[in-house]
Amino acid sequence: MRHGRTILAATSDTASLDTEILLCFVLSCKTAYLYTYTEKNLTNYQREMFNNLINSRKAGTPIAYLTNHQEFWSLPLLVSNKTLIPRPETELLVEKSLNFLDKDKNNQVLDLGTGSGAIAIAIAKSRPNWDIIAVEKSHDAMAVAKENARNLQINNIKFISSDWFSEIDELRFTLIISNPPYIAADDRHLSEGDVRFEPREALISGANGLEDLEYIIKHSYHHLVNGGMLLLEHGFQQGEAVCKLLVEHGYTQVTCFPDLQWNNRVSFGLKL
Ligand SMILES: C[S@@+](CC[C@H](N)C(=O)[O-])C[C@H]1O[C@@H](n2cnc3c(N)ncnc32)[C@H](O)[C@@H]1O
Repeated sequence: MRHGRTILAATSDTASLDTEILLCFVLSCKTAYLYTYTEKNLTNYQREMFNNLINSRKAGTPIAYLTNHQEFWSLPLLVSNKTLIPRPETELLVEKSLNFLDKDKNNQVLDLGTGSGAIAIAIAKSRPNWDIIAVEKSHDAMAVAKENARNLQINNIKFISSDWFSEIDELRFTLIISNPPYIAADDRHLSEGDVRFEPREALISGANGLEDLEYIIKHSYHHLVNGGMLLLEHGFQQGEAVCKLLVEHGYTQVTCFPDLQWNNRVSFGLKL
């Protein structure tokens, strides 16, 4: 433990926690085990594996990519470096989806850009009577999403490889949700922290970060039933621009919701 913490101290703000997680990963154990059996020595194989992980973490690789695991909506999800690492703030999109629709109705939901499947799976798990379609352009990400659904025994998601609506035909939905790419191509955050390691196609959306959001807002209208809802995650400074686009494209009751840090994070529009 001490060895890992010392190496990571210079590059990680969470050196202790990172070390614990990586050691638990190597030993396939819970944290309590580390503090119960403090004298236990690692085998050569475990030591080498641990050192490699610590060095990768020191070079900046996100913990989730080292362990291929991220918790979302209290569900254990597989992730890979071909998927975005699901963020806690995205749970707001799930919470609003579950609150806004009648839970007893057989709602038709479309998740655009499902990545690891986080949003679709969280909703599917909470509402097994809803029918969900999860769309993704990246075949590698889609494979991870399907594996997550299999592991969690989710049977109400249909996965479709599609460039946004290209393979959706004339289907109509009661709810369309998306956490699309929304970072501007020249945003300095792209070269900082975990984001450096995430797939560019999951993050970047044109020069101003709004290209995909605008495309989705424009085309969702056609794919919503009357009374259908669109819920979108976006950057914390994009709320005003997204709400303006929603109004311009004919949505009503347009509203922006803050995340736990009080940043405008999710916007809503209704098709009447
Ligand atoms: C910000 S990530 C969100 C992933 C996941 N929904 C989440 O919240 O963790 C955006 C996702 O949209 C996918 N994507 C980007 N462009 C797309 C397109 N034209 N059609 C379908 N999916 C797309 C990316 O591959 C990526 O998985």
